[in-house]
Amino acid sequence: MPRIKFHCESFLFLFICIVITSTNQHNCPETEGCQRLQSHIQNETHNEIICRRVIDVEFSIDVHVIHLCKYDNATFYLKHVIKKLPNVRQVIIFDSKLSYLIGPNRYNHINLLRINNSTLKRVADNLLHNMSQLHVLDLRNNSFDRLPNQFTQYPGLQLKDVYLSNNKWNCRPENLMWTRNITTSLIRDLETVDCDDPFNGKPVFHISKFQQDIMSECPRYCDCELFNIVRDFEDVLNPIIAVKCLNQGLLQLPRHLPNLTKILHLENNSISDLSPIVTNRSYKDLLELYLDHNNIASIAILEGGDWLQRFNVLSLRSNKLVQLPTYALDNALSRNENMPDAVLFYLADNPWRCDCAYTPHFQEMLMKYAPQIKDLHEVRCRFAVGDENSLLPIVSLTRNSICRQANDYAIKPLDLVNIILASLIVLVLGKLVYDYYFFKKTGRLPWIVSKMP
Ligand SMILES: *[C@@H]1O[C@H](CO)[C@@H](O)[C@H](O)[C@H]1NC(C)=O
Ligand SMILES: *[C@@H]1O[C@H](CO)[C@@H](O)[C@H](O)[C@H]1NC(C)=O
Ligand SMILES: *[C@@H]1O[C@H](CO)[C@@H](O)[C@H](O)[C@H]1NC(C)=O
Ligand SMILES: *[C@@H]1O[C@H](CO)[C@@H](O)[C@H](O)[C@H]1NC(C)=O
Ligand SMILES: *[C@@H]1O[C@H](CO)[C@@H](O)[C@H](O)[C@H]1NC(C)=O
Ligand SMILES: *[C@@H]1O[C@H](CO)[C@@H](O)[C@H](O)[C@H]1NC(C)=O
Ligand SMILES: *[C@@H]1O[C@H](CO)[C@@H](O)[C@H](O)[C@H]1NC(C)=O
Ligand SMILES: *[C@@H]1O[C@H](CO)[C@@H](O)[C@H](O)[C@H]1NC(C)=O
Repeated sequence: MPRIKFHCESFLFLFICIVITSTNQHNCPETEGCQRLQSHIQNETHNEIICRRVIDVEFSIDVHVIHLCKYDNATFYLKHVIKKLPNVRQVIIFDSKLSYLIGPNRYNHINLLRINNSTLKRVADNLLHNMSQLHVLDLRNNSFDRLPNQFTQYPGLQLKDVYLSNNKWNCRPENLMWTRNITTSLIRDLETVDCDDPFNGKPVFHISKFQQDIMSECPRYCDCELFNIVRDFEDVLNPIIAVKCLNQGLLQLPRHLPNLTKILHLENNSISDLSPIVTNRSYKDLLELYLDHNNIASIAILEGGDWLQRFNVLSLRSNKLVQLPTYALDNALSRNENMPDAVLFYLADNPWRCDCAYTPHFQEMLMKYAPQIKDLHEVRCRFAVGDENSLLPIVSLTRNSICRQANDYAIKPLDLVNIILASLIVLVLGKLVYDYYFFKKTGRLPWIVSKMP
């Protein structure tokens, strides 16, 4: 290997050289036990052994590298290796079945620890405590779901290269504490350290950063979570952030939301004012808004912004809505780029007005957007005593029943005036006829005429 020899000529490259030589994958021996492998680096004899299943060597001070394969004890104690091989520099374990790794005593010279394809799941919290000479830690191709929280927090640690990809990293916030204190500049494969569950295949350290930002900006009375994360067509990661502030008796929309909040749940509060959605920057990325069981009497304020043109979900069940700005809403929806498949509305349990002036337009709008209005048949007229349409589904009302209602038969003030006037005319004509016949019969003028001058 002339190339490697060349690298190894200066002491500076000795370390790199060791790394290069040790990445040469050795095959696991056929027979159980240890064999010597001899490799010569410059003048130094670089003593290596490779062991299958057991480390059956006597105390030996000249072994610098140990390869170990098919080692199937659940717990691996590095101190047992040091006891037999006190001068070992490199410990390489592959194709084994381990689950837990415990560190060595203080007096060790391990500068490379590589555990590959060995189902390792956990390391002792203080694994690195006594490993002050460790330069390379390679934990690729194992079953780690997390690391200890303060894994690299040891003064004097000389760690330079850490590899963590191809594991089963769990990306729930509570299992990502370890990512916060680890020195990320040490991690050589940072961009390929990917989550297993949730967010499968997404980079762990980006997820962790998003989650920290979300938590730091979350209103005190809300729960905020990274709901999903998607790559856009330029391969940029876009977080989908969901904020839930339920049952809090809120009178107003939250003052601040985490940046990029797309989903907001505010069910069971007492909110009536929606103006921040139009005016406040916190709401600029909002796509889904759930406001069931609040005090909203009107959404007319939303006409003033572009929100109706870009939203996905608006849920307004059990509010105080009497009517919608049908024309403006229709106009906005026809321009909404999420139409038709990604727009959802919920409108049930509101005291909807039902009369000839408003309802035909409203009904038209309900029909037009029937695929988007998920509770269409629960959108009912408000309760009104004596109204034949009271609590009936609005889409099923006929034009006649809207425009000829019970209260149309009722006597209105103007009708009363008309009736009075008509009765007076009848009265006057009657009196005229009576007076005419009375004059014909008796020849006497009516009393009023006889009194006139
Ligand atoms: C990983 O280890 C298992 C068992 O030790 C072995 O059967 C398998 O071939 C190894 N995988 C690779 C890619 O070497
Ligand atoms: C570090 O080494 C000392 C003795 O050398 C030992 O008592 C201690 O348990 C070791 N710590 C760890 C975390 O292995
Ligand atoms: C880990 O082991 C696999 C197969 O066992 C091998 O292909 C790969 O090169 C090894 N990776 C490292 C960094 O040693
Ligand atoms: C180990 O990792 C390498 C890439 O580093 C990959 O190609 C290989 O399939 C992995 N092996 C196992 C057993 O996971
Ligand atoms: C990070 O390290 C500091 C100091 O060691 C510690 O106080 C803090 O709790 C650690 N944070 C986490 C998330 O473990
Ligand atoms: C949120 O956005 C504001 C304004 O764009 C920015 O100043 C702030 O740093 C962001 N916060 C986080 C945690 O990214
Ligand atoms: C709107 O945003 C500003 C900061 O950008 C904040 O101070 C204010 O309280 C917010 N108002 C409402 C009603 O949410
Ligand atoms: C709101 O309150 C009602 C009754 O108190 C309850 O049934 C419902 O589950 C609550 N909704 C949410 C989203 O908490």
